[in-house]
Amino acid sequence: MTAGAPVLEVTGLEAAYGRARVLFGVDLTVPEGGLLCVMGRNGVGKTTLLNAVTGVLPPTAGTVVFGGEDVTRTPTHQRVRRGMGYVPQGHETFPQLTVAENLQVTLEATAHRDKGAIEEALEVFPRLREFLGRRAGFLSGGQQQQLAIARALVTRPRLLILDEPTEGVQPSIVAEIEAAIERLHKEKGLAVLLVEQYLELALRLADGFVIIEGGRVARAGSAGDLQDEEVKRLLAV
Ligand SMILES: Nc1ncnc2c1ncn2[C@@H]1O[C@H](COP(=O)(O)OP(=O)(O)O)[C@@H](O)[C@H]1O
Ligand SMILES: [Mg+2]
Repeated sequence: MTAGAPVLEVTGLEAAYGRARVLFGVDLTVPEGGLLCVMGRNGVGKTTLLNAVTGVLPPTAGTVVFGGEDVTRTPTHQRVRRGMGYVPQGHETFPQLTVAENLQVTLEATAHRDKGAIEEALEVFPRLREFLGRRAGFLSGGQQQQLAIARALVTRPRLLILDEPTEGVQPSIVAEIEAAIERLHKEKGLAVLLVEQYLELALRLADGFVIIEGGRVARAGSAGDLQDEEVKRLLAV
């Protein structure tokens, strides 16, 4: 990969559920070390976009270039191995397994198998240490979200993809999740693609943003532009 090349470059991405088209030619770029926030009202196609980027929903047109390689037709598990860390909406964990087992199972599926990665993830979410022996299904929603992000971190991603990590999470844990994302991005230089509806949080974290409307990019720009009236109109419910 050449220096300064984007970690993720999406061009003309289209996706559909059966005959129902949802994405219409979406373009976006996450620079190396950048944090791009995807915003937009419910149902505009944000989750579909992340599923198309990660290959969970194979796109019907367009390309996904990750780390300089075209991965448009690469299976999701291989994209994960190449460094796409995806935390889907609704904090997926293994509810029957303990927190420690959730992290261990994830480690065993990685290419690096370095136990140090679990310790690093726990440094990002120290609260999880108190619950290592507890089944994930018995954690609060916010703690499960932290565990879901910690699992993605165990893979040592070069791009962390988060779908509404603060949705339905209690405020004290929202603050911890925000602080963790900020630290991963600003201190560790991790590139992040974040779907977030909470404008204030997006403003604090994002370098750049795209606003989706009806499966298309309605606006794109740098974080400073997020203030203006048209943007607020596009995000209003
Ligand atoms: N599995 C699915 N099958 C059919 N339609 C779906 C499916 N998932 C989402 N949709 C539809 O696709 C559109 C975009 O959904 P989604 O990407 O989840 O939006 P967002 O994440 O922005 O709220 C919506 O109209 C939604 O009803
Ligand atoms: Mg969604």
